[in-house]
Amino acid sequence: MTGSIVNYKIIIKKDTIEIAEQFSKIVIEKIKKKRGKFSLALSGGSTPAAIFKYLAENHSSNIDWTKVLLFWGDERCVHPGSDESNYKMAYENLISQVDLPITNVFRIRGEHDPVEEAEYYSDLIRDKIKKKHKLPRFDLIMLGLGTDGHTASIFPDQIDLLHSDKICEVAVHPESGQQRITFTGKVINNAGTVIFLVQGKSKSKIAAAILNGSDENNKYPAAHIKPAYGELIWLLDNQAAAKLK
Ligand code: 6PG
Repeated sequence: MTGSIVNYKIIIKKDTIEIAEQFSKIVIEKIKKKRGKFSLALSGGSTPAAIFKYLAENHSSNIDWTKVLLFWGDERCVHPGSDESNYKMAYENLISQVDLPITNVFRIRGEHDPVEEAEYYSDLIRDKIKKKHKLPRFDLIMLGLGTDGHTASIFPDQIDLLHSDKICEVAVHPESGQQRITFTGKVINNAGTVIFLVQGKSKSKIAAAILNGSDENNKYPAAHIKPAYGELIWLLDNQAAAKLK
């Protein structure tokens, strides 16, 4: 998994709109193909906001939202009304704009005790998501990439969360100290499809460090994401891809 990442697809698009259109196409096609419910785990941070907005504004009617079960790959341990909340960002830009039954939305309750919520969300996932290879298998997991190489809320100084046997763990942001709930690496790597969405010049260095396959990339959690039984797509804009070989 580290060193050069094999069996992945890199898609480079001009800008946010083109990334959003490409992401929408992939999601629409996969939801259409899936028999039964489609489990989608969202990423957080700032990148997804414009993508969710575009999906809602341009493709809402192309998706049978009653099929979609919405989860989060990570969440900040804050109130859902906080501007820091990944749920709030998704609610404002997507959930409130489409016909997604609220009973299909499984938010991480950031306002609860982190350890208890990590266990609660793990139990919820065990209950809602079918297992494959003894682990819950999400149909699609969206991920972002931090400039330090973190993904979800698996940070370089807590890289052991990649190998935890739990479904969700409590993480701590290394700079802010903010507690997070995050999927573990094993769950992410058990997904049917993992899509990294990476935008902007600030990500060009870390994207190249991971995708150009240098041996020193194993310190970056994102370099360890390669679904053993699934598809890995890196979707970048021109600026983020500027240093790729
Ligand atoms: C979070 C995310 C995190 C994010 C990256 C990139 O909760 O912040 O899940 O992993 O995807 O930090 O964030 P930006 O899109 O804001 O650069």
